[in-house]
Amino acid sequence: MRRIQLADNLEALRTLDDGLADLIYIDPPFNTGRERRHEQIRVVQSDTGARTGFAGRRYDAATIGSHSFADCFDDYLAFLEPRLAEGWRVLADDGTLYVHLDWRESHYVKVLLDAMVGRERFLNEIIWAYDYGGRTKKRWPPKHDVILVYVKDPKRYTFNADAVDRIPYMAPGLVGAEKAALGKLPTDTWWHTIVPTNSREKTGYPTQKPLGILRRIVAASSDPGDLVLDFFAGSGTTGAACLELGREFILIDESPGAMEVMAKRFEGVPGASEIEWVGRSPAGATAPSDAMLPEVVVRSDSDRERHRSP
Ligand SMILES: C[S@@+](CC[C@H](N)C(=O)[O-])C[C@H]1O[C@@H](n2cnc3c(N)ncnc32)[C@H](O)[C@@H]1O
Repeated sequence: MRRIQLADNLEALRTLDDGLADLIYIDPPFNTGRERRHEQIRVVQSDTGARTGFAGRRYDAATIGSHSFADCFDDYLAFLEPRLAEGWRVLADDGTLYVHLDWRESHYVKVLLDAMVGRERFLNEIIWAYDYGGRTKKRWPPKHDVILVYVKDPKRYTFNADAVDRIPYMAPGLVGAEKAALGKLPTDTWWHTIVPTNSREKTGYPTQKPLGILRRIVAASSDPGDLVLDFFAGSGTTGAACLELGREFILIDESPGAMEVMAKRFEGVPGASEIEWVGRSPAGATAPSDAMLPEVVVRSDSDRERHRSP
């Protein structure tokens, strides 16, 4: 099965069978898509004012501006929890779940997942370290994401160490020519570039993740022919890795812009003609306008960097 579905993922997940997916990778957005508005008010004293203040003085309030801000953190966990629960239900008995997070929220999601599925099912915390953009001098410049890994059954899960791309030794002279040529297995700390600005890989999707990261995850934690589920699919990086590595997939995203980016990305890619589009006609592909792409909530300078590229 190769399916791409335009839908809210909670509704779509509820239609999937228990234990269907061998591997789940998700990269949820920080904000829930809902916005709140904050009004800035200036209060001026006025004999006819509608508000009464200290010592009975009357005031008028004038709105001098407003700005919107993302949902508060509680809402984020409330948004994620039912989706994680449904995802866990859809995960096979020997399946693996990867949850890609920002360093700000990873700790909270770890506590949530430990409580939800059991701490003994926690397999790894992967640190994806990248080097991009400016470096603040006010603190250690934050340049990493966190990927939490959980397995349904700690005694029985797929981990194809031999299928993982190998990395160069830091001191190849110390290990001998044969080992140096083979390289070594990556640890739980992955140094990997963001999607390079002028690369063929770049889709223009604001939160696109590098194919190299997804290739590694798919190769290690699934077998050829397995079904991989990504229910925050974005530009379809998980699907691209699956097409390369011969895996089946279900990708879900609620953004029409994401659908158009994926349609363009998979055009002519071997295996992509089998894709079943749900909620979108593949013939209707058009270049996504900015308005179709998901809104990015910028929280700080380092976040601005993160959302532009990684
Ligand atoms: C951080 S992006 C994923 C980027 C992706 N990993 C990539 O490489 O392109 C998160 C995606 O989740 C989608 N999304 C947010 N809320 C959703 C929901 N309730 N149902 C389905 N998709 C949702 C957004 O439209 C966005 O495309």
